[in-house]
Amino acid sequence: MKSLIVANWKMNPASVREAKKLCGETKRLAGLLKGVSVVVCPPAVFLSGLAAGARKGRVSFGVQNVHFENRGSYTGEISPVQAKDAKASYAIVGHAERRAIGESNDDVRKKVDAVFAAGMTPILCIGEKERGQGAEHFTFVREQLRGGISEEAGKKLSRLIIAYEPVWAIGATKAMEPRQMHEMSIFIRKTLVERFGSVGHNITILYGGSIDASNAGEMLRDGDVTGLLVGRASVDIQAFTELLRAVSEA
Ligand code: PGA
Repeated sequence: MKSLIVANWKMNPASVREAKKLCGETKRLAGLLKGVSVVVCPPAVFLSGLAAGARKGRVSFGVQNVHFENRGSYTGEISPVQAKDAKASYAIVGHAERRAIGESNDDVRKKVDAVFAAGMTPILCIGEKERGQGAEHFTFVREQLRGGISEEAGKKLSRLIIAYEPVWAIGATKAMEPRQMHEMSIFIRKTLVERFGSVGHNITILYGGSIDASNAGEMLRDGDVTGLLVGRASVDIQAFTELLRAVSEA
């Protein structure tokens, strides 16, 4: 099975020229390396320009956020049907950096439904802000799963991607330990099975937070995940090349 690597460029790079260079190199590598599938999520202003020139099959594209309505008076927002029309096949929903500026579980749930309705694949981000000695982080994650997935979305669960990103490991110096991820994957599957039945066993789970070439292979081997959501290391050509090579060898 191929590892799914989602490149979340966030608000980078600064120009179309740099975006094209980065995307071109990512495509070249993705075409070369075995065992990896790459989804590039650029800033939305770059999306159609990058996707237009893309040969089918090398990389797929996604957006970093969408609104839950398809049209209307929502200044500054992007709708799922617009994203789809600009060649996005995936949409990241509920990223910690969006939740930090006020996105709620209710917003997230509506967005997941809207992304499915537009015919794209939602990448639902969850993860606790901090971790203490107890099991509060499991309660927090269960609540995000409950609030973020509607009954309707539950019917399409096999097509939903969960990206578990503990907020304390995003933009940090160290990723979470693979054995902690393994434990979290079991918890996520169990929580989904309890609500939606056995389809929950096979949900696609990604890990995100301070992933680079030094820890990607180990996370894929021991973390019980199908792929990775990568921030910083995805916008640095050197770092991303090394990361994709490490994933391909894992
Ligand atoms: P990072 O970001 O890889 O820079 O830690 C990950 C993310 O926020 O998706």
